[in-house]
Amino acid sequence: MRVFTESFFNLPEVEIVQDLKVNADAIGIGVFKEEFEDSKLLKEINSVYQGVYDTIKKKGFKGDEKDMIHLTIQGKDIFVVGLGSKSEKKKFLKENIRRASSHTCVEAKNGRAKTVLLLGFENFEREALEGAFLGLYEFKVLKSSEKSEEKRIEKIFLVTKNNVDVSYISTLCEAQNFARDIVNMPGNYINPSTLAEIASAVSQKYGLKCEIFDFEQIKRMGMGGVVAVGQGSSIPPKFVHIWWSPGKPKDKIAFVGKAITFDSGGLSLKPPQSMVTMKADKSGACAVIAAMKVIAQIKPPYEVHGIFAACENMPSGTAQRPDDIIKTMSGKTVEVENTDAEGRLTLVDALSYAQRLGVSKIVDLATLTGACMVALGEYTAGVMGNSDSFCEFICNIGNELGEKMWILPFDPDLRESLKSQFADIKNVGGRYGGAITAGMFMLEFINKDVEWVHIDIAGPAFLNKKLGYFQKGGTGFGVRTLVELIGRLKEYKRKNV
Ligand code: BES
Ligand code: ZN
Ligand code: ZN
Repeated sequence: MRVFTESFFNLPEVEIVQDLKVNADAIGIGVFKEEFEDSKLLKEINSVYQGVYDTIKKKGFKGDEKDMIHLTIQGKDIFVVGLGSKSEKKKFLKENIRRASSHTCVEAKNGRAKTVLLLGFENFEREALEGAFLGLYEFKVLKSSEKSEEKRIEKIFLVTKNNVDVSYISTLCEAQNFARDIVNMPGNYINPSTLAEIASAVSQKYGLKCEIFDFEQIKRMGMGGVVAVGQGSSIPPKFVHIWWSPGKPKDKIAFVGKAITFDSGGLSLKPPQSMVTMKADKSGACAVIAAMKVIAQIKPPYEVHGIFAACENMPSGTAQRPDDIIKTMSGKTVEVENTDAEGRLTLVDALSYAQRLGVSKIVDLATLTGACMVALGEYTAGVMGNSDSFCEFICNIGNELGEKMWILPFDPDLRESLKSQFADIKNVGGRYGGAITAGMFMLEFINKDVEWVHIDIAGPAFLNKKLGYFQKGGTGFGVRTLVELIGRLKEYKRKNV
């Protein structure tokens, strides 16, 4: 595999225009529910494309979310799409807009349009572009027959009088699509070595510092968790640290990602159907690499670290066994009851490494537990941590960006279930509350002076069917939240001194 540093999917070009008469192959018109009856925009459009207004009214269009009417007038494809009610809660409103814009652009593409004019998205330009960029994404590099360029939107004309930071939105969505590409690449392409190579290539290209540790060095650093999980595979683990460092940093923060390039379960082998999609067990690390790529471009005044321990969790004669007791970098010993609860073993070493860098904050992203999907459904991530304010701050950012999150409560009464007879702690808790006990396992490795948030993305990192602007496959969940967090860190620090 050739190492890549950009998404294979090329984003369409964007031009901000004010004139709705710009010539494009297709037109997407967003209409809010309460503005339908008396829409100035629709009247204006009606004067150019006669009949639009009457036709959609006759067809029962009301501007509800998911409403879409397709018309062909003067040889042009026109998609009128409902944006829902403006009085909707902010997070739902924005998500409706992303989905509506995506729907329009994808329909236009399927109709072989090369250019689309988007109207009616004023004040929600960011969401309109996010919907288009993420919704048009396709992963076709491993198909030999289909040419992905055959049907392609080359250019979007976005009608607005506002200033739009197209470059930031493009950079962000390109990075998210890049994360999706890596997630979608299966285990015979992405293994600990190639994942490390991608991180290294991104660092080199975008000016991040990069240090990669091989198996010998991982052993020497005392990372018993990474060693135990990595030792069963014929491809040894890699520990990756990339970072952005400004002159005099105003703060230091670390992003840690789970990086299991394939999770077979190890000797506690998964059943066949549960193993399918376990190429996505590296999604946390993919989001971290992609976020770091954006951070290198926005150059914040903070030191930002991206850290992951890449391992392939495999069963073999050299694999760790259930019952093994391992010593982690922190010095704590762990009894391994189930080798399929491997993520937390690698993560605690990465968290220890991060804390030795002297960071004040850590956010980790991990496809950690099936239990989180049982608790919240497969579209919402579980947020846990040792700082309520930091959890809430991140959760709010995620929900505003369409990365749905919900805080799960640590429960001191559940701590009992992690007690081990022979070691300091064991790697699985009881039958219930699996997402929480996984988080509480990691909590044991966090110093009191560090604000730490853990995001369990087992559900939303990878979709088994199309949802909104996401095709089936990797979603790049977390990329936008991490980057946006850096942009809003000043606000958090002001509120929480
Ligand atoms: N990678 C899985 C979690 C997962 C499951 C992610 C489904 C995405 C979809 C993780 O390593 C795992 O296997 N967790 C176990 C933990 C259990 C053994 C305590 C699980 O969730 O069953
Ligand atoms: Zn597992
Ligand atoms: Zn796993």
